[in-house]
Amino acid sequence: FPRTNRILIICAGGIAGCDRPQSTLNPAGKEAAQILELFWWMTGGAVVIWLIMIALALYAIWLQPGAHDVKQTRRWIIGGGVVFPTVVLSVLLVFGLRMLPPLVAKAPEGSMQVEVKGLQWWWRVRYPPAADSNERAVELANEIRLPVNEPVQFLLDSEDVLHSFWIPALGGKVDMFPGRRTRLALTPTRTGTFRGVCAEYCGDAHAQMNFDVTVMERADFDAWLREQSQPATSPIDEAANRGSELFVSRGCGACHTVRGTEARGTVGPDLTHVGSRSSIGAGILKNQPDMFHRWLEETDAVKPGVLMPSFHMLPEEERMALAAYLEQLE
Ligand code: CUA
Repeated sequence: FPRTNRILIICAGGIAGCDRPQSTLNPAGKEAAQILELFWWMTGGAVVIWLIMIALALYAIWLQPGAHDVKQTRRWIIGGGVVFPTVVLSVLLVFGLRMLPPLVAKAPEGSMQVEVKGLQWWWRVRYPPAADSNERAVELANEIRLPVNEPVQFLLDSEDVLHSFWIPALGGKVDMFPGRRTRLALTPTRTGTFRGVCAEYCGDAHAQMNFDVTVMERADFDAWLREQSQPATSPIDEAANRGSELFVSRGCGACHTVRGTEARGTVGPDLTHVGSRSSIGAGILKNQPDMFHRWLEETDAVKPGVLMPSFHMLPEEERMALAAYLEQLE
């Protein structure tokens, strides 16, 4: 391609990215909108300063050849090298600090809480029950759903190494530490599905540690959470039934929980309603027929370094039955 075309293609790619579910330039939350405002002020300020500097450089090169007025030079150095940056940086600092408290503050008392733990390389998500109810917490993995226009308090930590919780379209990002809880308050302002990522390098599959955040109307959210709180449904057909037996006999239940069955492991993700999630393997494979089978067959190829062993040694028929079982856990 000629050079201008190449530049156009790069720009088009960048602009097209603005509308994607992971874009900070298309905010879907109050905090992300504030961060975007800060970004535009910083960008605007940087452009103005750059233009001034370039103008001064051109002035020095072309209009003042051989000028050696010591007094004037000193004025330029003190004005342009000390006073100007001190004023500009101070203004930007105050502007940024003024925004900081709302971005890291606690959500208002009584806001919904969601606990998220980072693990190599997936997310454990827990919805604790409301303070006055005797219901149990709802646990799932790699998927978060939120009611629109309501503040939510995230309580974050890690079970192994450092991770960082970031939903670019909603706000963030906040580091997750083992043994220390951090907080993040977000208020989604429109419905839709957005992508969350781990923003701290945490090992082999760091780039494959993602999650979906679906923002819904309150009534839809309540219905979803009620469904998630139920134990797993019984297998719907012969294949799924065989899969449910294999799930226990082949040891899957040592690491995974399927509520309402003998599988009570807690090392890996809770799979009680895995069939209802939008993706499997923490945002890596779309939840489509065949993908559970692919995950079981080539786990370590799909996600290098993953702790779950690949089950390629099982007969094809057994893997198919396990996949059928997982798929219908909705
Ligand atoms: Cu977890 Cu990077």
